[in-house]
Amino acid sequence: MPEPAAGSEELVLAFLAEAEEDFVSGEAISDKLGLSRAAVWKHVRSLRARGYRIDAVPARGYRLAEIPDRLGALEIKPLLNTHDVGQVLHCSEELPSTSDLAKELAEQGAAHGEVVVAERQTAGRGRRGRAWSSPPGKNLYLSVVLRPQLPPQRASELTLVAALAVCDACRQAGVEAGIKWPNDVLAGDRKLAGILTELAAEPDAVQWVVVGIGVNLNTGREDFPEELRGVATSVALERGQPVPRALFAAALLSLLEQWLDRHADEGFEAVRRAWRERSVTLGREVRVEADGGEVVGVAEDLDETGALQVRAAGRLVRVVAGDVRLLRPR
Ligand code: BTN
Repeated sequence: MPEPAAGSEELVLAFLAEAEEDFVSGEAISDKLGLSRAAVWKHVRSLRARGYRIDAVPARGYRLAEIPDRLGALEIKPLLNTHDVGQVLHCSEELPSTSDLAKELAEQGAAHGEVVVAERQTAGRGRRGRAWSSPPGKNLYLSVVLRPQLPPQRASELTLVAALAVCDACRQAGVEAGIKWPNDVLAGDRKLAGILTELAAEPDAVQWVVVGIGVNLNTGREDFPEELRGVATSVALERGQPVPRALFAAALLSLLEQWLDRHADEGFEAVRRAWRERSVTLGREVRVEADGGEVVGVAEDLDETGALQVRAAGRLVRVVAGDVRLLRPR
């Protein structure tokens, strides 16, 4: 058999990561990937040296038991199942903000789907000028450059598309997550993840959109700053065990691409339906703080443009931007 081609270590890793069975035999890997059994073994040893824990049991085969908890291209790329999103990854130990770098790259011509990831941010930004707490080694901070074929007035739909992907990734990780309008992902009434969407547009076309996503993954209660302890949570706190961050990142990027494709193929209505199903806002009494003032009422629906319809004092108010606070538990 010829020497394995460059990149076949990544193929072995991807094969193990995607295996439906617990263990996969060396023979199955070797047949599927066209590698000799010796080459498979060589790749397993070199993956172990890179920090992957791979169990090898005679007569059963190999099992990927643990992946290194790093958010590098080497860890994320082999787990990705996408055509565009994340195919170009810019990974750093530290950045002021992944969205700042993504915006710079977008201005310099970055392609649709390029992703910026950082282990920590020194100036992480949230919506409405707030800071986003970004300690190292625990969470996920990433920003995706998108070049959608959309008029600028429809760009805000992408914020809801991203919320679906984040919510679904948290659910796949075993957390009962829901979406608070427009795009906060919650578990119970505590925040798991936030999304910040920024864009540049000409009068009739979007040039680029940068979707910045922060997910609290392995944060413990004591890791949150004092003022967030009562209102924030993490995937690990909710499911009771840490989450492999590269696996979560790859799943999130794959889901984001799937939802972007659906949005492009079927339009906003498909997104609206899915968003309603995952919403923790609809049917609740809410207080909305918007630039134009405050509205208190019952959140009735998401309209065909993505705005929130709130019934306040018998009148239906259309909210296009603002902060929603959920009042009274259901
Ligand atoms: C919010 O809920 O207020 C939005 C938070 C968005 C945070 C993410 S973390 C990755 C990206 N980089 C930033 O500076 N912000 C976004």
